[in-house]
Amino acid sequence: MVNVAVLGYGTVGAGVVNVLMTNADMITRKVGTEVRVKYVLDLRDFPGTPVEDIVTHDFNDIANDADVNVVVETMGGLHPAYEFTKQALEAGKNVCTSNKELVAEFGVELCELATKHSVNYMFEASCGGGIPIIRALNTSLMGEKIEMVSGILNGTTNYIMTSMYEKSVDFATCLKEAQDLGYAELHPEADIEGHDAQRKIAILSSLAYGKHISYKDVPCQGITQIDTTDMAYAKKMGMKIKLLATSKVTEDGVWAMVAPKLVGPDMILYAVDDVLNAVYVEGNCLGPAMFYGSGAGSLPTASAVVSDILDCAQNLHTTVKKDITDELLPLLPLDDVKN
Ligand code: NDP
Ligand code: HSE
Repeated sequence: MVNVAVLGYGTVGAGVVNVLMTNADMITRKVGTEVRVKYVLDLRDFPGTPVEDIVTHDFNDIANDADVNVVVETMGGLHPAYEFTKQALEAGKNVCTSNKELVAEFGVELCELATKHSVNYMFEASCGGGIPIIRALNTSLMGEKIEMVSGILNGTTNYIMTSMYEKSVDFATCLKEAQDLGYAELHPEADIEGHDAQRKIAILSSLAYGKHISYKDVPCQGITQIDTTDMAYAKKMGMKIKLLATSKVTEDGVWAMVAPKLVGPDMILYAVDDVLNAVYVEGNCLGPAMFYGSGAGSLPTASAVVSDILDCAQNLHTTVKKDITDELLPLLPLDDVKN
């Protein structure tokens, strides 16, 4: 049995519980053991829901429970997410998160802390919602020298721009819709001012180029200056406006930026509308590759978090099996003695 504690039962956290429950039988078969949610930590109670009996308001219940193997941090924000994550890692628990703000700010330190305690700090859901881009960069593209990463990395702004373009709806109404659909950040300035995309391109670039790129060094412009007149002009030119996040390796180092750009129908990103995200990656041997999918929302994001949980669960299960094998090893020489 692998025990999971979910911190923050909001859009993503509730999605994670939903995915683990909905796919429980298949997950048990694939992992080889049950993966169950033992705790949900939140500020609120959730009477009449499947988690009503496992809600706690005290993180120490989780940190001090030796049976908890995986902590899922879906609270968002820097504090107390940072302190809880540290405490969990120091207690020898794996941590899986969707919190890109925390990853962008403290990711290096938290990964080092995880390594020190022989556990994992995993953040597949931090970039591109449900798109498995982190795993692709870390594993499938490991042998590539990545030369460029570029794409639409924020679902809220893409949703807003698509609605403004297609339905001529005003900015404020589109933002409200994105919030109601669970796409936007708690403080939506992070989306519309471009800071969310700025954090994501910094995280992806750090992984792609193997050196830490601070989000603070990425010039960033959001979409707040774009109005229906801009949209009308773009339409007249047969183009769309998209918030692009790009980084590129140049002779002088890495160049990166986040800004709204005109995109024509000859570009693949032209067709990436609504909450969809897309990430273009260029490798020195691979050439171009494109990753595309739901960039925000409860279940798509939860799917990415669950992929991390199951990664940890599979390793734990293997470790358990390995430990058993190790325990059996001393018996084997008896046969040698007999022979
Ligand atoms: P929500 O606001 O929907 O959920 C956060 C939950 O955490 C809420 O239930 C909140 O409780 C709870 N919470 C906040 N602080 C505490 C605390 N100190 N102790 C206990 N519980 C707490 O946010 P989302 O689910 O949308 O986002 C969570 C994280 O995932 C963020 O980092 C976000 O950037 C990221 N993310 C979100 C995506 C999305 O599509 N929504 C996609 C990808 C990543 P309460 O409501 O009572 O305050
Ligand atoms: N607010 C973010 C977005 C959530 O709209 O893309 C996904 O990271």
